[in-house]
Amino acid sequence: MEELLASPERCAGILQNRLVANMFFEASTRTNQSFQAAANRLGAKILVFHPQSGSGAKGESFSDTMRMVDGYSDAVIVRHPCEGAARLAADVCEHPVINAGDGGNQHPTQAFIDLYTVRKLKGKVGGVKVVLFGDLAHARSMHSLLYGLSMFKAKITLCSPPGLGMAEWMVEEARRKFGAKVAIEKKPDLSSADVLYTCRVQKERFGSPREADAAQAAFRVSKKLLEGANEELAILHPLPKVDEIDAEVDSDPRARYFEQAKNGVPVRMAALAMCMRGFGREGKGGRRVPGFSCKNQSCISGIEKAHWGWAEGAGLRVRCRYCERPAG
Ligand code: CP
Repeated sequence: MEELLASPERCAGILQNRLVANMFFEASTRTNQSFQAAANRLGAKILVFHPQSGSGAKGESFSDTMRMVDGYSDAVIVRHPCEGAARLAADVCEHPVINAGDGGNQHPTQAFIDLYTVRKLKGKVGGVKVVLFGDLAHARSMHSLLYGLSMFKAKITLCSPPGLGMAEWMVEEARRKFGAKVAIEKKPDLSSADVLYTCRVQKERFGSPREADAAQAAFRVSKKLLEGANEELAILHPLPKVDEIDAEVDSDPRARYFEQAKNGVPVRMAALAMCMRGFGREGKGGRRVPGFSCKNQSCISGIEKAHWGWAEGAGLRVRCRYCERPAG
């Protein structure tokens, strides 16, 4: 897709006369704009949605809204503050649904961009030493990237301030499903790291702003942190950045986050083209568990009363179908 971008007329034929619904229920600059750019480059048209003026204000459920726009379009892109919202949308829509970020759960197309950027910069993902640094508890891009890096056999180190660590069940799943090599460190050792991936504290997912500010004060990418760091280090960030990277780091040649954001267009062109041309229809293995009720307060199932558990794997572990958090 990146090569095709140099031939606008060839690009524009790929999804000509197709219609994409861009359903953003939560703030976004990059994901929203780059999906619009991607769809436009491929010749598709975009249905734009403004949640403030949508009928959710009159009490319409999320799943009814999704069912409606599915009838108007050929694919639905959805960002929502609740975990599992994209899965619920996929259940009620006939057309492909792309998760553009569901609460503090997952951000898969961001992970595609991150993996693509690592591969472009380092020539591979397997064996590359990546330090995930920051709010690993709430940052959906960190969660999706953990799985992506694990699938491609990167060497992963998790490093976070106290209380902001990656959920144990996610680390356990990455190890069990993908044989991930995951180390957990208190301080990042950047002398031999290939990639430092950081993100802001996800203030909107904290109980109080003061708690979030205290968490933010506990980590920062500064010139001092980079003293002794690998000269070939790539510093990546999904953006937006707020206070976690000193402004002077932007001019360090190792800071590659704006280039990373630019990769969003070809990567999302690929995601749109693949799913709208029939790839990636996903079934769900395992068996349905009647009477399941998700205990995650941030899960869409609590709002939509759409509880559905499913059990997977040899031990038939029970999880929520939507946010995928294990029971218990
Ligand atoms: N990286 C990312 O998801 O940014 P936006 O929230 O601006 O879309």
